[in-house]
Amino acid sequence: MSKLRIAVQKSGRLNEDSMRILKDIGISIDNGKDQLKASAKNFPVEVFYLRNGDIPQYLKDGVVDAAIIGENVLIEKGKGIKVIEKLGFSTCRVCIAVPKSAKYTDVKDLEGKRIATSYPNTVQMYLDENGVKANLHIINGSVEIAPNIGLADAICDIVSSGSTLFKNNLKEVDTILKSEAVLAVSPILSDEKLAILNTIQFRIQSVLKGRN
Ligand code: PRP
Ligand code: MG
Repeated sequence: MSKLRIAVQKSGRLNEDSMRILKDIGISIDNGKDQLKASAKNFPVEVFYLRNGDIPQYLKDGVVDAAIIGENVLIEKGKGIKVIEKLGFSTCRVCIAVPKSAKYTDVKDLEGKRIATSYPNTVQMYLDENGVKANLHIINGSVEIAPNIGLADAICDIVSSGSTLFKNNLKEVDTILKSEAVLAVSPILSDEKLAILNTIQFRIQSVLKGRN
């Protein structure tokens, strides 16, 4: 019998909540992070621990069948991947931030500026919509340091509590989008796997109802 392969974030903010919802729907997994893959003991499911940014491609290729992932990651690089359930946790927003002392009225103030970000496609879409031209510097982590070391005039990154911005003397000036964890599915799915997925989705819906 085939197993449904579900990707979750290997480490980071989504990991814990993702493992909790799997547990809440009765999928018990022995260990975690030391292995890249674990089988559920009582359900035809395998969990793959992957880097956030790699998950969209794995879904597209059908290497994994489903994923618990931030909507913001799909917007950045998961065009065409279907979301079947919003999960209500790991909420955040993708924001523009600038140094506290900088002037910012609206997006036009980014014209000709350098923006450091891990979300180049998302920022570019936002700039294009507003007819603004800016220079993007792609950084994969600790983006908030960029203005302080003179690498950028602004940043675009995810904000949750706002504490990282605060600690780095930055202020949030624009919200590009809001995000939460979602259940996303691969476009390539056999009927057998779809049946497993349907059961999982049904259980998730029950758990989410109970949480409200
Ligand atoms: C994320 C994100 C922000 C921060 C936002 O970084 O890139 O820096 O969390 O959260 P906050 O508003 O609650 O402070 P993370 O700590 O995951 O590390 P990384 O950027 O190095 O990947
Ligand atoms: Mg960060």
